Amino acid sequence: MSAPVLTIDGPCGAGKGTVSRLVAKKLGWNYLDSGSIYRSLAIALLKKSVDLADEPAIVEVAQTMHLAFVCGDQLQVTLNGEDITDQLGLETTGNAASIIAVLPAVRAALLQKQQDFRSLPGLVADGRDMGTVVFPDAQHKVFLTASAEKRAERRYKQLIEKGIDANLPSLLNDIQERDRRDSERATAPLAMAGDAVFLDSSEMDVDAVIAEVLSLIQ
Ligand code: DC
Repeated sequence: MSAPVLTIDGPCGAGKGTVSRLVAKKLGWNYLDSGSIYRSLAIALLKKSVDLADEPAIVEVAQTMHLAFVCGDQLQVTLNGEDITDQLGLETTGNAASIIAVLPAVRAALLQKQQDFRSLPGLVADGRDMGTVVFPDAQHKVFLTASAEKRAERRYKQLIEKGIDANLPSLLNDIQERDRRDSERATAPLAMAGDAVFLDSSEMDVDAVIAEVLSLIQ
């Protein structure tokens, strides 16, 4: 029997990461943060100064990089043995990830790495195309979103709490730009699966979203 999957897709900053991690913990299921795979590849490319438009060179790095994930309170990631956890959340990493994510061969090279996370007792998979492309046969699918303004505000608070300098208008601009790139790309664009449940978290706190998601499964 293949393991059950709950997919949580949506734009950046909608709260997918927090919700998915906590839902996985409550269910005792495995957790895939697919964005961190794109982000890790972006870090590998920036380290090697690979041109972000050079698709064959990017695919080569994607196929040869070695990633290891330890999922505790915070997701810890090593790239070829080096701990890159602190670099995952940087805006430069996210922007580079979004740029390479438009390339079809790059997405294909990362597909199996994501599907390998499916194992018993179940998987919560968080991303943009989990319910549409990576796990189209998932038993439970959620599309989690919030207004761009709310998402920029949340990101701003997160960065300030971490002691990182941030500018709200420029974060909003980045979010709108990334939404546009993620939604308009030809391959696996950010889109709601036909059989997904739509959730707008603009006016909901994390606990309310988690309760709603768990109610879909139980
Ligand atoms: O969810 P995130 O912000 O960590 O993702 C970073 C980028 O990776 C995002 O802008 C688009 C890309 N991505 C993707 O194309 N497909 C996914 N399933 C996850 C992320």
